[in-house]
Amino acid sequence: MTAIVEFDPLGAESIKGALGPDAALLPGLDALTAHLELNVFEDCVVLGPSVDQQDVFALAEEMRLRRPSLGVVMVRRRIDTAILSDALRAGVREVIQERDLAGLTAAVRRQREIAARLRESVDNPEGAAPQTHRGRVVTVFSAKGGCGKTTLSTNLAAAIAQSGKGSVALVDLDLAFGDVAIALQLFPTHTIADAVPIGEDLDGPALISLLTTHRSGLRALVAPMEPSAAETISTDLIVHILDLLRDEFDYIIVDTPPALDDHVLAAFDRSDIVALIATLDIPALKNLKLTLETLDLIGFSRDKVKIVLNRSDSKVGLALSEVEKTLKAPIVAQIPSSRDVPASTNRGVALVSDDPKHPVSLAISAFIDDYVVLTTDDAIPPQMRTDRRSRRWRR
Ligand SMILES: Nc1ncnc2c1ncn2[C@@H]1O[C@H](COP(=O)(O)OP(=O)(O)OP(=O)(O)O)[C@@H](O)[C@H]1O
Ligand SMILES: [Mg+2]
Repeated sequence: MTAIVEFDPLGAESIKGALGPDAALLPGLDALTAHLELNVFEDCVVLGPSVDQQDVFALAEEMRLRRPSLGVVMVRRRIDTAILSDALRAGVREVIQERDLAGLTAAVRRQREIAARLRESVDNPEGAAPQTHRGRVVTVFSAKGGCGKTTLSTNLAAAIAQSGKGSVALVDLDLAFGDVAIALQLFPTHTIADAVPIGEDLDGPALISLLTTHRSGLRALVAPMEPSAAETISTDLIVHILDLLRDEFDYIIVDTPPALDDHVLAAFDRSDIVALIATLDIPALKNLKLTLETLDLIGFSRDKVKIVLNRSDSKVGLALSEVEKTLKAPIVAQIPSSRDVPASTNRGVALVSDDPKHPVSLAISAFIDDYVVLTTDDAIPPQMRTDRRSRRWRR
């Protein structure tokens, strides 16, 4: 159940309308305290815009210690970074804009899931440590701009999310000029910059409240609106964010800027797979070769690196075998060129959602099946595997 406190009758009606008949509307904070004493399995409280902000913070701080499974959701008329960071620091799990009733319903649902998980870990017999959930991190990179990183990362994330293969977070690490939000037509209320003031106090629920949900089900942590905000984001914060996301999601897809900077290297460090995009032009291939050499220099495992050729059917006089010879690495997937790709980006939809049978979508889905999604085959040593990984793309 969920308990609501909102003094304005119209506001209270709209919150209760969104949360359904099970939600209990209480006349004030004293009544809420009494209600919580009586209902020990209450999972979530929603405090409306008319409840004094300091009272909300005080309640969240108290509940964080006395009743950690209870999720405190604060509804505000206006949300800015200062309110958000103060709220998250006090222990408020989510801050929702007054008119965002769908966001409120989703936030309450998340609090219930978290409460159920916390109860499960407490009920865990013999006090065994709760199972840590470690999602797979896939970072998509190319040192040259415009090769298709955002196209691949957004489509990978949407395809996995809509396939039901697991929960997906998409992180836009192109901190200065990220365009994941535009490519997926998201209207974010928060960006990764909102994590900066919270720093290492950022925990899973607080991070989840910064994500924006896409209709495929993926949840995106979008880049700051202001390019200059990128400078305020430390590599430690990136690593912390990725670690938190690995605990919360099955797959974490990371889009990157066209530069091998510290943020990207931090993401590589946490990645299970680094998809390096090649296109059939000499500058892109030169940059890819340099990237591979840098990764070798820092001792990055070649097993994690998967080279994906985008616009693979471009007739430019470069043979695939020559390219592989130059790179000294196999190309494991080929995505054809199609004008439907920019057309879908311009409409703000992922091509895999719009047209799952499109050759580009099929190539991306095959890459997911072959390299991203874990199967029982992955427990088998590589030399004993069937030729699953090479059936489609190797020449
Ligand atoms: N397979 C493809 N066929 C046709 N057009 C494509 C294909 N892949 C990507 N594009 C187009 O190429 C352009 C650049 O793609 P995208 O934005 O994904 O690259 P990027 O590597 O993220 O660029 P940046 O380095 O600027 O972030 C976009 O207009 C996109 O629609
Ligand atoms: Mg991009």
